[in-house]
Amino acid sequence: MNVLSRADQLASVVPAGTFIETVTSVKHYTDRLFKFRITRPASFRFRSGEFVMIGLMIGDKPIFRAYSIASPSWDEELEFFSIKVPDGPLTQHLQKIKVGDAILMKKKPTGTLVNDALVPGKRLYMFSTGTGVAPFASIIRDPETYEKFEDVILTQTCRDVAELQYAKDLVEETKNDPLIGEFAAEKLRLFTSATREDYPVKGRITTLIENGELFRHLDVPPLDPATDRAMICGSMAMLKDTKALLEARGFNEGANNKPAEFVVERAFVD
Ligand code: A2P
Repeated sequence: MNVLSRADQLASVVPAGTFIETVTSVKHYTDRLFKFRITRPASFRFRSGEFVMIGLMIGDKPIFRAYSIASPSWDEELEFFSIKVPDGPLTQHLQKIKVGDAILMKKKPTGTLVNDALVPGKRLYMFSTGTGVAPFASIIRDPETYEKFEDVILTQTCRDVAELQYAKDLVEETKNDPLIGEFAAEKLRLFTSATREDYPVKGRITTLIENGELFRHLDVPPLDPATDRAMICGSMAMLKDTKALLEARGFNEGANNKPAEFVVERAFVD
């Protein structure tokens, strides 16, 4: 009897231009957040910070959503950090994946949260909320980030303390990584705050920029477009408010074809 593997079965129904990959690990952080890793196609290239369309076959239809790649471009596997939405078209199913399951991935990565879209500077800020930390998980593990900047600051703000664990584990692991640990240990700093639970630093990142608590905590001067560069990833409201603060301080928004002092990307959720 000819027994087909799941990937073989899927191959006849998935859309053209789609990789079929396999889940290699899943870790749940809270009832709202989890991370998973999948095999990486040998031909798949991306720049650290880019996103790609990830999907599942739901019945006989593929459902895709944009996901930032959380692993660096040199990694053998691909990592993603996801929200779980009870009735989200994709995430209500995706949150149930197990090691060995098949995941669909479109072939073309894209995005603006890339080193190429920033002009050189001294200090890089990566402002994130919730799953918006995912592209920065890639960028802080890319050696180019440490070649380009003297001081690399990742900020992560979540509603609850447990939601900050992904970023804490990530930074810890990055500082111990055999490839980039040495650079990260010297240059990378993590700043965390929570908004809905007691925590040493409480408040939205926008509030902490405005009242200066962020800079006092890090012992750095306030934001300055002459020396500082920024990447922002979070909800639409967070992007809009953080972008307005940067623009008010003289920062210009950059793009792949026009590098400048900051770049923005939405954390894609549903
Ligand atoms: P808050 O608890 O005050 O809403 P979410 O999980 O809803 O995406 O939120 C992640 C984090 O982003 C929360 O700490 C939330 O704070 C914060 N946040 C929500 N809206 C904004 C905004 N407009 N500017 C800055 N931070 C925000």
